[in-house]
Amino acid sequence: MNIIIPAAVAITVLVSIPMMLQWERPPMDSKQQGYRGTGMVQIDNPRIKAKQAASIEIPEAYDPAEVEGTKASEVYENLKVLGDLDQAEFDRLMFAITDWVSPDEGCGYCHNEENLAEDSKYTKIVARRMLQMTKAINTNWSNHVAETGVTCYTCHRGKPVPQNVWALDPGSRQAGGMAASRAGQNLGAPAVGLTSLPYDPFAGNLDKKGLIRVTAPTALPNGHTPHIKDTEKTYALMMHLSTALGVNCTFCHNSRHFANWEQSSPARVTAYHGLAMVRDVNKTYMEPLVDVFPPERKGPQGDVLKVNCATCHEGQSKPLGGIQMLKDYLTELSAAKAD
Ligand code: HEC
Ligand code: HEC
Ligand code: HEC
Ligand code: HEC
Repeated sequence: MNIIIPAAVAITVLVSIPMMLQWERPPMDSKQQGYRGTGMVQIDNPRIKAKQAASIEIPEAYDPAEVEGTKASEVYENLKVLGDLDQAEFDRLMFAITDWVSPDEGCGYCHNEENLAEDSKYTKIVARRMLQMTKAINTNWSNHVAETGVTCYTCHRGKPVPQNVWALDPGSRQAGGMAASRAGQNLGAPAVGLTSLPYDPFAGNLDKKGLIRVTAPTALPNGHTPHIKDTEKTYALMMHLSTALGVNCTFCHNSRHFANWEQSSPARVTAYHGLAMVRDVNKTYMEPLVDVFPPERKGPQGDVLKVNCATCHEGQSKPLGGIQMLKDYLTELSAAKAD
């Protein structure tokens, strides 16, 4: 009998130690994000932030090109996107994209090195479209990417396939028997912060415009009112937004009224444009490439790998901590000829 109390204490201590190891120790940084008293505060662990910042290694920009007035199209045979650049700028860009996308594989990742004009590798066809896509992001979506802009490195980080991409989820992790239909949820998916919300928050939201709504504006359903499924999917998507940017909900919302734009922070407007930009990127640029990619580069349903918020952000509220790589490649990767 009198062994029970000491045993219970011992067990409690043993169980608490591993739990306490998970805690983050103070001090934390906190930054007010909205009105006074609304609890809209971003809390960051400065030690984690410092590690994140230190882990970013950006390839050094090449010296500015010495423009000589010869257009690349006058020298090279098969240019469909970059012909208007000066030859020196063109060559500099080829070296830069090699650093950004295929530093280990080199020029040969996209080219037959015997004949650089040939389009025999699918990677070159993809890269040509990616050049147009990058220009379009920097030119048409400045309401999201601002002056910071993007280069190939923002998504690729020195790898042919970006680390964070998504594809349609086939639901292959279905249980058998009575639990056979999970209705797209209850699997604790990493995409939604290991909650049991719908495990695919992307399809229907990041490839087309979904109903990102929770609150019905009218008392009775009228065909445009969100259902419980829309509500769950909205929360699932919001989990992705938060984890992709490494922020909490109050970075964008006043939690006493999530839907109200007047009480939200300016970041929510930027995020709204971001959602539209991601849809455009996936619809206009990624999906039409589906027949160009080989099977091993596609998702389990045979669709192309697509972009979400984490593709660029990788856990930071500004990709690469806000470092402006585009400014060294403005002529090559912005304004001119985006289509
Ligand atoms: C990530 C893919 C990729 C890599 C890596 C790459 N290139 Fe290219 N390269 C392209 C694309 C795409 C074009 C066509 C651009 C266009 O259509 O305007 C091209 C075109 C060229 C051309 C013009 C050929 C012609 O006559 O039409 C040359 C020269 C060239 N690249 C050199 C290089 C060199 C040198 C390297 C390595 C330092 C390199 N490229 C690395 C994608 C790549
Ligand atoms: C918004 C994010 C984003 C940007 C910016 C971006 N890419 Fe990509 N890229 C992707 C995604 C997503 C894929 C698909 C990966 C797959 O299915 O293999 C991809 C695939 C590729 C591939 C095929 C790689 C392979 O092995 O299959 C090449 C080559 C490529 N990109 C080149 C570029 C170049 C060059 C640039 C800059 C001009 C660029 N990308 C900019 C997201 C991006
Ligand atoms: C990076 C900014 C951002 C973060 C972080 C964020 N949201 Fe959102 N949220 C938005 C945007 C933008 C919309 C509106 C989307 C639209 O209308 O297309 C939205 C919409 C919503 C809605 C729907 C409101 C309505 O009109 O019915 C709810 C509820 C919501 N968010 C909750 C959350 C929760 C909970 C979190 C934290 C887990 C969160 N959000 C994190 C930007 C954000
Ligand atoms: C193509 C790359 C790319 C993608 C994809 C992307 N963003 Fe961004 N985002 C950026 C860049 C670049 C900035 C920095 C702009 C600046 O300097 O003001 C940014 C800034 C932001 C900011 C403002 C942060 C701040 O500190 O003010 C928010 C919020 C944001 N993005 C949300 C999102 C959301 C939500 C998604 C997914 C729906 C998304 N982004 C997808 C490139 C991207």
